[in-house]
Amino acid sequence: MDAWTYRFDGTGPAGEGLREALCTLGNGYLATRGAVPECDADGVHYPGTYAAGCYNRLLDTVAGGTVENESLVNLPNWLPLTFRAGDGPWLGRPGTEVLDEDHELDLRGGVLSRRLRVRDSAGRTTAVTQLRFVHMRDPHVCGLRVTLTPQDWSGTLTVRSGLDATVRNRGVERYRGLSDRHLTQLTAGPLGADGVACSVETGQSHVRVALAANTRVLLDGRATGVARAGGEPGRAEQEITVPVSAGRRITVEKLVVVHTARDNAISEPSVEAREHLARLAGFETLLYEHRLAWRQLWRRFSFSLRGPQSPALPVVRLHLFHLLQTVSDHSADLDAGVPARGLHGEAYRGHVLWDELFVFPILNLRAPVLSRALLRYRYRRLPRARAAAADDGRPGAMYPWQSGSDGREESQRLHLNPLSGRWIADVSRLQRHVGLAVAYNTWQYYEVTGDREFLGRDGAEMIIEVARYFAALAEHDDARDRYVIRGVMGPDEFHTGYPGADRPGIDNNAYTNILTVWLMLRALDVLDALGADRRAELAETLHLDPAEPRRWADISRRMFVPVRPDGIIEQFEGYAGLAELDWPTYRDRYGDVRRLDRILESEGDTPNRYQASKQADVLMLFYLLSADELGELLHRLGYRLPADAIARTVEYYLARTAHGSTLSAVVHAWVLARNHREEALRYFVEALCSDVADIQGGTTAEGIHLAAMAGSVDVLQRCFAGLETRGGALLLNPYWPRQLGVLEFDIRYRGHRITLRISGATVRVTAGPGRLPPIRVNCRDEAVELGPGEVVQFPLHPA
Ligand code: BGC
Repeated sequence: MDAWTYRFDGTGPAGEGLREALCTLGNGYLATRGAVPECDADGVHYPGTYAAGCYNRLLDTVAGGTVENESLVNLPNWLPLTFRAGDGPWLGRPGTEVLDEDHELDLRGGVLSRRLRVRDSAGRTTAVTQLRFVHMRDPHVCGLRVTLTPQDWSGTLTVRSGLDATVRNRGVERYRGLSDRHLTQLTAGPLGADGVACSVETGQSHVRVALAANTRVLLDGRATGVARAGGEPGRAEQEITVPVSAGRRITVEKLVVVHTARDNAISEPSVEAREHLARLAGFETLLYEHRLAWRQLWRRFSFSLRGPQSPALPVVRLHLFHLLQTVSDHSADLDAGVPARGLHGEAYRGHVLWDELFVFPILNLRAPVLSRALLRYRYRRLPRARAAAADDGRPGAMYPWQSGSDGREESQRLHLNPLSGRWIADVSRLQRHVGLAVAYNTWQYYEVTGDREFLGRDGAEMIIEVARYFAALAEHDDARDRYVIRGVMGPDEFHTGYPGADRPGIDNNAYTNILTVWLMLRALDVLDALGADRRAELAETLHLDPAEPRRWADISRRMFVPVRPDGIIEQFEGYAGLAELDWPTYRDRYGDVRRLDRILESEGDTPNRYQASKQADVLMLFYLLSADELGELLHRLGYRLPADAIARTVEYYLARTAHGSTLSAVVHAWVLARNHREEALRYFVEALCSDVADIQGGTTAEGIHLAAMAGSVDVLQRCFAGLETRGGALLLNPYWPRQLGVLEFDIRYRGHRITLRISGATVRVTAGPGRLPPIRVNCRDEAVELGPGEVVQFPLHPA
């Protein structure tokens, strides 16, 4: 492995799902898992292909009731390609043995390669290489090139290549009892002399999807062989037989085009797939253009860590790689959000949760056009969010915890505990804080870009509507003379209610309440930031009553926050009164207690009884808000915390958190960075390992954890490097761990291309050439104006 290459040799069946997920290739429009082309879904292999935003709903009966789930649909598999020597067994079927094998993922060029040697039951050995891409410039195009070299035999060789439309959604073990057939097959068969095509339609959402492929066998660069159409129902296949001799290599090139009815600028997917395929350049040209597109992307997302001990770099690049394969210019052209598990697997059914909160900081600073597209995904679902708020008896907009095609709530009402085999009521939809994340992302995008046009158009409307909802959710508690928010869930999903209570939800989640205060202030800022005309217009359109901003201001001064007498912020009202969990006993008994909720439920108990959290909850506040901002908010509310309150709050939750979500390590690395360098590095490494080491023991195979991936990169850029964009300036306050070497990365800020270089001793800021007005850069107590082409270097005295 170098800083750009991942090599997997002989992972074995148990590691195959993980390898497939990590070797997924995609371009934001579609992604295909790194499954081997000769195998169908068979319990070890799982070839999945997903197109951004392509969902379908299915009904099931679970525990006596009807449930409806919307899923990102597994589309026809374009990979199938196998061969046989003479009339021997096909590669992938019984009778062939893989002698040695390795896979290599080239991050720089977005190419997955595989090398293997195969022997069949007649003792014929063939050397095989495979190379594939999912095109980064033309998002509809995928390619697979295979070379086959008979090593010790001569005769005929037959290649079988095809498209498999019989696939289902079977990627997640827990969902296997549920319906999984999303596709109706329409056509599958030959296309011209050397091609195949298939078309399908999703059963409920009626999205047509068409694939067309051609496969050529080349000997010394010339097409050869006799093609024959084949295949079973739902599988379009062709077989090409060629004479071969020992030591002479043949090359097989398969090019595939995928179109869906959601595409722009097409008439109909089948017509487009066929015509697009006919227009394609050759394999080599396509491969060159694909690599070029990646080279250009990496320039924008350049990130380097130099130094003797910077093993983090390849993982950081892998994380950026998968982010760029999920969100790209191609997804920006569609109406798609950020699925929590990428386009890499079927966990969370491809739904969009609050995880984008961890993705925006990477995009805002490099490709804000992508952030804007993601915000548009939310804006288009504002009417649904308004309807959900109305159903909840409140004004404004209530965004769903899990979102899919149309923005209705997609969270399941029951989930399966694989440990106990029981279906449990799922109230995670009470995580109203997702709306706060939408507003936060909108504001951050504006802070970084200064995009007043977006703020004035869509941004203001979203922020104001979410603020209205939270202003109504906050009730005035006369006894306290403070506002309270009851019956919600915080980010910690272990606490779904009070023990024994007959209603779900907890009261006064500190994270929700404090961010509500932050939101009230931003809603007021938004009104200020708009020009008088737009403000008046918006007030008219939204029927904004002058009393509303007054209520926002009032809430911003009188929200209740559960602060204990010793200054520790309580996760929610009553948390500190819950029983203490005997962590050592549980760790001894179960080893891994990340999913303590499942363990306790299987014992007939519930985490609701304990001071035990799944993930960072209160500590999310320190992640999203700087110490100054948080201090100002609490001060405004009239809470005076002792000087060591933050440190003690961090310590308190550290001892009570199971890290059952990969988001937790990111946030803990963040909050520990200032005062516990070594601990912070430990969590940073854990965040880096979330997927490459599959720390949750099997979940990565079901899809990468995109928020942890993006978040781990963000720990470097915004936390360790101490980069903030606030109050119209670029603020730098590095807490850089020297062990990590020298970090250099590029960002875009207010139109400037800025290169930051951070070592333990200095921070250097370079602005690219151009004609833009200078920006303000503050490093600790020093402030400078930086114009295009200028460089400034700040010494870093130990803080
Ligand atoms: C976490 C959520 C997160 C989801 C998807 C869950 O385990 O508790 O906060 O949104 O995973 O990543």
